[in-house]
Formats: sequence, structure tokens, C-alpha cells
Amino acid sequence: MKFLVGLQTDITAQKRTERAKSEFVSLASHQLRTPLTNLRWAFEVLEHGKIGKLPDEMQKIVERAQSFITQMNQTVSTLLNISRIEAGKIQVRDEKVPIGRLLEDIQEEYQSALAVKKQSFTINCPKELSLMTDESLLYEILTNLVSNASKYTPERGSVTLEVKQEGDAVSIRVSDTGYGIPADQQKQIFSKFFRGGNVIKHETSGTGLGLYLVYNLVRILSGSISFSSEENKGTTFTVSLPSTPPPHS
Ligand SMILES: Nc1ncnc2c1ncn2[C@@H]1O[C@H](COP(=O)(O)OP(=O)(O)OP(=O)(O)O)[C@@H](O)[C@H]1O
Ligand SMILES: [Mg+2]
Repeated sequence: MKFLVGLQTDITAQKRTERAKSEFVSLASHQLRTPLTNLRWAFEVLEHGKIGKLPDEMQKIVERAQSFITQMNQTVSTLLNISRIEAGKIQVRDEKVPIGRLLEDIQEEYQSALAVKKQSFTINCPKELSLMTDESLLYEILTNLVSNASKYTPERGSVTLEVKQEGDAVSIRVSDTGYGIPADQQKQIFSKFFRGGNVIKHETSGTGLGLYLVYNLVRILSGSISFSSEENKGTTFTVSLPSTPPPHS
């Protein structure tokens, strides 16, 4: 009996610690957002020559700084969304999302990162195609996949986005010509904190949380995700979402 009481106290304390941890992450990432947005704005002013044309060398430094800001933004968003999901507090809206426009926004967000690595970026998407889903969650899913595609592809490689209507679903493919995922590690790809052994030597930054978030967001949006990958050839992730989602519980 004594043992049972002890165990219950432990579980309650553990839950309290988990909640406090999640609230801290949520607050900290929220607080980081505003200074990051201001930093981005300041560098955009410089990059677009609004206060005079920059020397080439300086332009490159600004581009690189922008790509680091994009990376930081992504990490902050990922942490914030994971803490929301784990606290059961994620909100899902249904709205008409013109997918072509969303992909152009993503291209703009990643253009500095792509330029730094001299990678090409192609979008194939039928004009006027839209779906009913949560735009900001879909943006999170796709920015994570695009960020990975660019990060895990060497200089001068390519990243391609392809969208198709397939019956009642819209499929979005993100392909790259990068390092690929070793066959014996593919089962772990959506686990929290997993990082592939083959990429760490090329790309040291990363928390292994992006795909864990993507997997959970796709599930929340009633969709599915799959991938195929070959080492040193490339990787394709396919997200399929219903054109009109079932009612959320
Ligand atoms: N397009 C890709 N090509 C090759 N490997 C990939 C690709 N996408 C993901 N991976 C592998 O899966 C791992 C997990 O990806 P995930 O996005 O979850 O984490 P991360 O990119 O390491 O860090 P972050 O949390 O900053 O996104 C990566 O570290 C990499 O090994
Ligand atoms: Mg990632």
C-alpha cells in the first residue's frame, strides 16, 4: 500500500515537471520570436540595398546571416510546436490554402540558404490548386522538409517541389539530390532526436526534432507521409493530405 502511494506521488511529480518543462520551452521560444523577426527585417533592409548597394563581399555575408536566421526561426518554431503538441494544446483551423502561393512563400524564406549553397529550387504545381487545411501547420511541415532537403544536399544540388491532385487528396513531394538516408537507419527517421550517421560529418547543426514534428503534424491534419531514399543519390518525401479534411475531434 505504502509502495502504491509512493509510486503515485512520483508519477504526479513527474507530470508536474513535464508540464513545467513544456511551459518553459513554450515561453522561451515565444520570447525569441520577436527579436528574430526584427533581426530578419534589419538584414532584409541591408540585403535589398534599401540604404545603398552593398559591396559583393558584404552581400555574401548578409546572405549567410539571413540563412542562419532562417535556421534559428525554424528551430524556435519546431520547439514551440512540439511543446504545444505534447501539452495537447495545438489548434487546427480549416481554411482554403492556395498551395502554389504557399510554396512561393517557402521559396522566399529559403532563398538565402539555397543561394549560399548554390542549389536550384524548382516548383511544379498546378495553378489555382488549393486545399482545405491549416495553413500555418502545413507551412511548418513543408519548411521542415525543404530545410532538410537543402541541408542534406551538397553544393550545386537541387531541391524540387511537386504537387498533384490525386483523387480526394493532394500529394506534395519534396525531392533532393543529396546524401540520402542509409537503408539500415530508415526505420528510425521519425523518432525524436534521431540524426543519421552519414550526415553528421557534413552538417553538424540539427536537433533531430524536425521530422518528429512533421510526422505528428501530418497525423493531426489527417494525412500520411512516406519517403524513399538512396544513399548518395537523394531522398523524396511525400505528404498526402485530404483536399477536404474530416471533422477534427
Ligand atoms: N532530405 C534528407 N536527406 C538525407 N537525410 C535526411 C533528410 N531528411 C532527414 N534526414 C535525416 O533524418 C535526420 C532527422 O531529421 P530531422 O529533420 O528530424 O532532424 P535534423 O534535421 O537533424 O535537425 P532539426 O531538428 O534541426 O530539423 C537528419 O539528421 C538526417 O540524418
Ligand atoms: Mg531537420
